[in-house]
Amino acid sequence: MNVRVPFVDLRIQHEPLMPELMEAFREVTESSAFVGGPFVARFEAEFAEFCQARYALGVGSGTDALWLSLLSLGVGHGDEVITTPNSFMATAEAISICGARPVFVDIDERTYTMDPAQLEKAITLRTQAIIPVHIFGQMADMDAIHVIAARHGTPVVEDACQAHGAEFKGRRAGSLGVVGCFSFYPGKNLGAFGEAGAVTTEEPELRSRIRALRDHGQAAKNQHAAIGWNARMDGIQAAVLSLKLRHLEPANAARRAHARLYDDLLADEPRVVRPWVAPYAKHAFHIYAVRVRDRDGVLKRMAACGVNCAVHYPVPIHLQEAYRFLGLEAGSFPVTERCAHEILSLPMYPELRPEDIELVVKLLKQCLGD
Ligand SMILES: Cc1ncc(COP(=O)(O)O)c(C=O)c1O
Repeated sequence: MNVRVPFVDLRIQHEPLMPELMEAFREVTESSAFVGGPFVARFEAEFAEFCQARYALGVGSGTDALWLSLLSLGVGHGDEVITTPNSFMATAEAISICGARPVFVDIDERTYTMDPAQLEKAITLRTQAIIPVHIFGQMADMDAIHVIAARHGTPVVEDACQAHGAEFKGRRAGSLGVVGCFSFYPGKNLGAFGEAGAVTTEEPELRSRIRALRDHGQAAKNQHAAIGWNARMDGIQAAVLSLKLRHLEPANAARRAHARLYDDLLADEPRVVRPWVAPYAKHAFHIYAVRVRDRDGVLKRMAACGVNCAVHYPVPIHLQEAYRFLGLEAGSFPVTERCAHEILSLPMYPELRPEDIELVVKLLKQCLGD
């Protein structure tokens, strides 16, 4: 079956940018600033401003951003870091790679983000950080999380890898935690031409530490004050990201308009649970996720009709083989587990046309079970 509506279409996004992209490649090539350098510095300043943050630091990926943030906060062996099991594996992995133990808190059934009502009981004397995940482009309830975190003096690290331009009460993702972590994986709202990520922060001290850690712990050339890693951003990625950042606001606005059309067309469909936008939130709709019965069947039938959907995420992190050692059985996080069975991501990208969305909804209604 030919694909009638892809899940994402990056080619169509890049086509009109081709002359500007070629110019950016030429500039980077001529200057040979391939790793770090002026293109990265420029993008860092632009992205910090976009996020309403004081500083941004370009790194190799969103995974690096999370990992280096935790390292910069001193997270290590014997510590615990709280997050949700409803995320991409990288959130927990970054905790583990620091030598710490991920401790999970279930999600709110409406926003799919960390349920603040369940956070406090997960905090122990070993807790060194809390990582709310702004999943699908909607921010977690940062006020409620901050109240609890402040009571325990625990830093909050935002996993904003899916939330470029998302807002909480008018404040941008990446400006509310002690650090914010972003991924520029190509399919993200702001995507590079390969791997890239960023950390945002208000704190000069954390900025200095992360800056050194991303470059083998060098505070100055050949002065290795800490054991770090190579987690630097490429000049070519920074140049592409600077260019694409200029188009991010209208692209996010297009995503929100698409979400409204999906919402309207699905309003009379009782078999579909639509995304809920919290009153505090400006959603960035990285993903438009609905919930349906017989999700795997619907996914297959949609693919057979030429519509590519996806699932974020079919297996919660605590039930992954890699985390079996935590001893968390099925049933430990019932909301996350129920959502993992029902969640279905419909095609979402800025260049979708209304007729594409109408077709997706028409076919979805035909593909639903009872
Ligand atoms: C919520 C979340 N956290 C972390 C990551 C990791 O980012 P990256 O793939 O850039 O390492 C991703 C990317 O998929 C993500 O969606």
